[in-house]
Amino acid sequence: MIKVYRHLNQLVTLSPCLQKDGRHLLPEDLGIIESAAVVFDDHSILWAGSDDQLPTEYSKEKSFNLTGHVLTPEIVDSHTHLIFGGDRSSEYADRLNGTSYEEIAKRGGGILFTMKETNAASPDELFQKACERIERIHSYGVGSIEIKSGYGLNYAKEKALSLIIDRLKKKYAPKIQIRNTFLAAHDVPKSFASSADYMKEVVFPLLTELAPLDVIDAVDIFHEKNYFTTEDTEALFSHARSLGISRKLHADELNDNHGAEIAARFHCLSADHLLKISDSSIEALKKSQTVATLLPGTAFFIGKPLAPARRMLDAGLKLALASDFNPGSCHCDNLLLIASVSAQQLKLNQAELWTAITLNAAHALGLHSQGAIQAGLNPRFTLFKTETLSQVTYSWGRNLSVSLP
Ligand code: NIG
Ligand code: FE
Repeated sequence: MIKVYRHLNQLVTLSPCLQKDGRHLLPEDLGIIESAAVVFDDHSILWAGSDDQLPTEYSKEKSFNLTGHVLTPEIVDSHTHLIFGGDRSSEYADRLNGTSYEEIAKRGGGILFTMKETNAASPDELFQKACERIERIHSYGVGSIEIKSGYGLNYAKEKALSLIIDRLKKKYAPKIQIRNTFLAAHDVPKSFASSADYMKEVVFPLLTELAPLDVIDAVDIFHEKNYFTTEDTEALFSHARSLGISRKLHADELNDNHGAEIAARFHCLSADHLLKISDSSIEALKKSQTVATLLPGTAFFIGKPLAPARRMLDAGLKLALASDFNPGSCHCDNLLLIASVSAQQLKLNQAELWTAITLNAAHALGLHSQGAIQAGLNPRFTLFKTETLSQVTYSWGRNLSVSLP
């Protein structure tokens, strides 16, 4: 069915950002059209432009008067760990009282604590909790959400988590688009002698079993000191590549170990975190299509300095922002709030900010048919009840998004 959105105060097309492959963006690249209209069917955008130029052939189609609204490309949260049991509010209190994220992990807290709580929860409980979280995230105007497995950390539970994410994907499609990332290599349970043993016993065989079921959209691994090594990472990426599965990487978060260079070399969709990224890694990403995804909510929440976003942008990287919503290092599920608060600190201009949560975030999930509003792309939008785009992030912490008619 064809629909026509008419009389939008502002239509934020991001077409110039798409043309520039999401790099080297200037404020005017937002491509804003005032008093705009958009025509689309279930699959594609058919036309976008100034309302007074709406082609007459569409004048009889079902139309909606959206005076007082702003339409943007759909907001995409390209990095979440939203499927988990229990919570870690006590660790949060410990951090406030002076214990670091790393110290808490060393004494058996952190991911391994959530592993226990996740294993204690039934598939139905995990599914229900995830539904609540997805619906809350969607209520902020986010239309596509990546969900990582990774708190089961044994064969049976990791398999169950990947299959629960697949159930969630089917339940919410097409309204909410879910991407299923396999992160069984999130931490090494104490019962394994080494990360390599855990990879051999759990990660590789499980990926081999799940691949033909067509449930996994990408693999990811926590390449970090005391977690997974460069050898583990390269072996996983080679295996994923041989299975035709995309790759993403938790890179250079707590230490610089040239993660972003590995991500570029294996043509990863994204390298995420990058708090400690080196100049050579910035060079490597610059020559690649790998999106540099920053998770400033995590830096805020574990008390670390932010990633050097301005240096990365000036070098010509494709930058995205995501929430990293998880029970430990960022218990905030509101990407728009995180983006609004961090943009000034990261020194993003407005086109960089919006591209980071729409176009480049979609590319970080391999979703190359969305992220701008122009004919031929998928009709995935976010609608705000307000008069200008600036009001959306200016009103940080308020939710101005409304359902699409
Ligand atoms: O992205 N770094 C690995 N995973 C999460 C942290 C998960 C946790 O603390 O539970 C992250 O920050
Ligand atoms: Fe993460």
